Amino acid sequence: MTTLSMSAAAPRCFAVGSRAQSGGTRKATTAGRTARVSRARGASLIARAAFTPAGAKIAGVGMAVPTQYLTNDDLSELVDTNDEWIRTRTGIGKRHVISGDESLTSLAAEASKKALAAAGVAAEDLDLILLSTSSPDDLFGSACTVQAAIGATGALAVDLTAACSGFVVGVVNGVHFIRGGEYKNVLVVGADVLSRYVDWRDRGTCILFGDGCGAMVLTSTPDPSDCCLLGFDMHSDGAGNHNLTAQFAYEAGTDTAGKSKPTAEGGDAPSSRGAFCNIGMNGQEVFKFAVKTVPDTVSKSLEKAGMTSEDIDFLVMHQANQRIIDTAAKRFGLGPEKVVSNIAKYGNTSAGSVPIAMAEAVEEGRIKKGDVVATAGFGAGLTWASAILRW
Ligand code: COA
Repeated sequence: MTTLSMSAAAPRCFAVGSRAQSGGTRKATTAGRTARVSRARGASLIARAAFTPAGAKIAGVGMAVPTQYLTNDDLSELVDTNDEWIRTRTGIGKRHVISGDESLTSLAAEASKKALAAAGVAAEDLDLILLSTSSPDDLFGSACTVQAAIGATGALAVDLTAACSGFVVGVVNGVHFIRGGEYKNVLVVGADVLSRYVDWRDRGTCILFGDGCGAMVLTSTPDPSDCCLLGFDMHSDGAGNHNLTAQFAYEAGTDTAGKSKPTAEGGDAPSSRGAFCNIGMNGQEVFKFAVKTVPDTVSKSLEKAGMTSEDIDFLVMHQANQRIIDTAAKRFGLGPEKVVSNIAKYGNTSAGSVPIAMAEAVEEGRIKKGDVVATAGFGAGLTWASAILRW
C-alpha cells in the first residue's frame, strides 16, 4: 500500500522559494557523495528555480451531462431489475448516456467553458489543464483535444487516471502547481463516459454508472497563506485492484503478447488487436471498502486542516451509492442540509461526480464563498482521496 499524505499549508511546500531568498552556499548530495556547490553556480541554479510562492483559490465551476438518459424502468427492459430495488439499494433514479456526436471531449469542453465563464478567466490564459478520466476518447488521452476545443492555446494539457478519486487528486495537484508559483490559472476537469464499458446484460453494474463531466478553475492569489486547500489525504492499494476492473484483452487470433498469429492461409494477420473489457465489479467488497475508507480519509484531512466535522459546511462525496454517502454523513453527524447528493439524477459518473455535485450546489446557491467543503473520492485502483476546501 502506498500513502501520500500531507498538509497543503505546510511551509515545506515552499522550499525552493526559501532557498532563493537565503542565497549563498548550500550542500548538494549526489549518489551518496556530498559536494559543495559554488556560490556563483548555486545562485544561477536557484535563479532558474526561483518561483514566487502564491496562494490558490477556487474561481469557478461548471458541469455537463449527455442529453439522453436511461431510467430504472428502461433498464428493467434490459435486465431483471426494477425501479424500487435500484432506488432502495443505490438511490439512483436515472443515468445519462452519451449518444450521437457526444464524446468525452465534447462534454469536458462544455463543462470547462462554463467553469471558465464563472471564473471570468479566458481560455487562452490557462497555464495547465488536468483532465481526470479513465475513459478518454483516445488511448493517448483527451486533455489535448479538450485544450483545442476550448482554445486554451497556452496550456499544457495532460490526463490523470485515478478512477473515481481522479477529480480530488486533480484538485490537489492543481493547487500545488499554483502554490509553487509557476502557474496562475489551472483547469481541473473530472470526466468519464463509462457507459462505453458497461455490460448492459449485467444487472450488478449497469444500474450504477452514467456519463458526465465537471470542471473547476483554480487561480493564484498573491498571499501564499490564502489557500483554498486546507488539508488533504490520498491513498492507493493495488492489492484490491481485482475488485473493480475493465482490463485490456487481446482479440482472439492474436497471441498473449499481442503479436499476430499466422492465419490459416499461411500469412500473418494484419496487426494485433484488442479492447478493454466490460466493467467487472465485486459490489459488496467495493461497498465495504468505501464505507471504511471514506470516513477515515476525511477524518485525516480534517485533522491536517486543524478542523473537526463541526467545521464542515458541506460534504461533497463521490456519488456511487446513497447508502455510502449516508454512512459517511452519519459518521460525521451531518444532516441532509449539509450533504450534497445528486445521485438520483446521474448515477455514478466516476471522476465526473464530485465536480458535477459541486457545480450544481453552487448554482443552487447552497455552496457559497467562504464555506468549508469536505470532499472525497474512492474507486478503482483501488484509490481513495479527500480534501478540505475553503470555497
Ligand atoms: N436488481 C434486482 N436485484 C438485484 C440487482 C438488481 N440490479 N443486483 C443484485 N440483485 C440481487 C442479487 O442477485 C441478490 O439476490 P439474492 O439475495 O437472491 O442472491 C440481492 O439482490 C442482493 O445482492 P447484493 O449484491 O448483496 O446487493 P447489494 O445490496 O450489495 O447491492 C450494489 C449491490 C452493487 C448496489 C452494492 O453492493 C454497491 O453499491 N456496491 C458498491 C459499488 C460501487 O460503489 N462501485 C463503484 C465504486 S466507484
